[in-house]
Amino acid sequence: MNEAGGINNLLQDQGYNAWLSYPELPQGSLQEQYVKWCGAVSVTETDDTVQAALAEWKQGVASMLGIEVQVQAEAALADTAANAPEHSDGTSAGHVIAFGTFGSGNPLINSVFAEADIRKVGREGFAIRTSAEHNCIAVGASAPAGVLYGVFHLLRLIGTLQPIAALDEAVNPVNSLRMINHWDNFDGSVERGYAGRSFFYENNRFIGDMERVRDYARLMSSAGINAIAINNVNVHALETLFISEYLPQVAEIADKFRVYGIRLFLSVNFAGPMQEGGVGTADPLDPGVRTWWQNKAAEIYQVIPDFGGFVVKADSENRPGPFTYGRDHADGANMLAEALEPFGGIVIWRCFVYNCKQDWRDRKTDRARAAYDHFKPLDGRFKDNVILQIKNGPMDFQVREPVSPLFGALTQTNQIIEFQIAQEYTGQQRHVCYLVPQWKEVLEFQTLAKGEASPVKRIVDGSLWGNRHSGIAAVSNTGNDINWTGHLLAQANLYGYGRLAWNPELSAEAIAAEWIALTFGSNPEVADVISRILLDSWEIYESYTAPLGVGWMINPEHHYGPNVDGYEYSQWGTYHYADNRGIGVDRTVKTGTGYSAQYIGSNAARYESLEECPDELLLFFHHVPYTHVLHSGKTVIQHIYDTHFEGAQRAEGLLSSWQTLKDKVREDLYVQVEQRLTGQAAHAKEWRDQINTYFYRKSGIEDQASRTIY
Ligand code: GCU
Repeated sequence: MNEAGGINNLLQDQGYNAWLSYPELPQGSLQEQYVKWCGAVSVTETDDTVQAALAEWKQGVASMLGIEVQVQAEAALADTAANAPEHSDGTSAGHVIAFGTFGSGNPLINSVFAEADIRKVGREGFAIRTSAEHNCIAVGASAPAGVLYGVFHLLRLIGTLQPIAALDEAVNPVNSLRMINHWDNFDGSVERGYAGRSFFYENNRFIGDMERVRDYARLMSSAGINAIAINNVNVHALETLFISEYLPQVAEIADKFRVYGIRLFLSVNFAGPMQEGGVGTADPLDPGVRTWWQNKAAEIYQVIPDFGGFVVKADSENRPGPFTYGRDHADGANMLAEALEPFGGIVIWRCFVYNCKQDWRDRKTDRARAAYDHFKPLDGRFKDNVILQIKNGPMDFQVREPVSPLFGALTQTNQIIEFQIAQEYTGQQRHVCYLVPQWKEVLEFQTLAKGEASPVKRIVDGSLWGNRHSGIAAVSNTGNDINWTGHLLAQANLYGYGRLAWNPELSAEAIAAEWIALTFGSNPEVADVISRILLDSWEIYESYTAPLGVGWMINPEHHYGPNVDGYEYSQWGTYHYADNRGIGVDRTVKTGTGYSAQYIGSNAARYESLEECPDELLLFFHHVPYTHVLHSGKTVIQHIYDTHFEGAQRAEGLLSSWQTLKDKVREDLYVQVEQRLTGQAAHAKEWRDQINTYFYRKSGIEDQASRTIY
């Protein structure tokens, strides 16, 4: 057995290896089965990606099973060795794992998979089969990246104690684009970063820690990610030069990503042609501007032949864009798309567009309307290498908000959804908030765009409208903290995001279970406790923060901690309209901003109706008195008191649950989480007290349970 296992033994890794730490497996029949199969591997390809898969396989098997894998580069058909004896370490000379691309010369792959099998495997998918005839578990793919995904899959099966003696399936990712957006700045800061600083840049230079970049690519690839934009959507002066002066350094990162099947994207500055000089305008219809971008694209593809394309935030929160020239978003996006088209690149144009300076005192002007109002009229006008990236909700990654009505409204436009793994409004990785259940709820939302079977997940996977490009993007929650995500439990969001993007059918429970086993090992007691913590955490966080979908209530600018009236654009009054009688934003057609009409059919009717609107979104859609009775039977004010008392108590409960794991979880991991949960329990009380006091003072209504409100 290897030395690496055991609770406190695995070098003091502090979570660096995350879900690729390959904890030693417990003795037992499954472990014996793995040992029997995993002694030898047959790999004939020298391709970097296939070799990376081999390296991963060797490392995983060594760590989980304590076996040094024998590599058969020249594959012999294993059935000739079918009767070979078992070795003393339990491995069997007759068993072999084989992996490679179809038709590439590995005789095992070529014998195990027939034409019909190959046809089931897409560009990034793989087939995996346990073949009794060949005494082999074969992982075959159309391309090297599929081989890598297949090997990660097999390692995951072993790491989560699944039997491997009768495998037979073809696995393809559901979403073709599975993307991470970094909000890293060249100075090393990370916008909304809660896990230290950037591991790409510091002090306006590329750090060049290629080992860390490689390990990051391994983690991302193993979770299923295939695209990463490495710089902030808010592109400042120096990052504008990533597509010129700094291209060699960008290319170095792209080289590392490529090995792991990941395409690199860059966020670009729409005013680039002006900023870099030469062209006095950024007007998308100006021939000089078009040529400038075309030349840029050519330069980029010369050094990064598989460059993914551009991510663009334009005409929002003070970013430059086509509006300056009287042009619209389609003009802007299509101009960039034209430049990238000859090279197969795409433009990802963000729909997070709103006027942050707008005066909403008329109670009709509504930021929530903005994305739909801007982009719905442009449906059908974008080139087919443009993708619109739409935030999951109409506002900004709140703990609770409705699904963006743009999903369902655009029928002729490539679109992807944007989630935020970074916990900007959900505890900033100091509080635990497992977001996979929230993302699943969004993906399952029925838009009714094409009848009953039109959930968001079918729009973003491209199947509902037959889009050329589709998928999911999310803002990264990583930084240079040793454990990548600050809060160790926030790794579950990073892992979970990738897995969900690969296959939205996976349940939040199943994803949590995988992550726990791969990170902490297979102790069922540990799994039960951590799984409960994760699965309860979103509800708990919501309960002691902003109630009933009203959002925000955080301090302006840094967005951490309670501040009921906190909202940076509150020069026009409080956004939630709380006074001594009631609270909430009237977004109805009848008396409010009319936002509810952006939904289709019964969705619009449900949100419009005070009676039918779901409790959790009530204050997003309606302004009600504190005495309004919810479906739950409670008044709004009593709901606020109750959830805040309960929430703070349950936050304390998270800590005590975790404490039952002392000595059952590696100490270096245990202490990190204990420290964060201690902080959360204290901070939840602060939330409870600020929110309850505010509403007690505003409403003058006593808590029915007569608890002390500070
Ligand atoms: C939020 C966030 C900003 C970010 C913006 C965006 O408003 O607070 O930091 O730039 O979203 O998504 O562009």
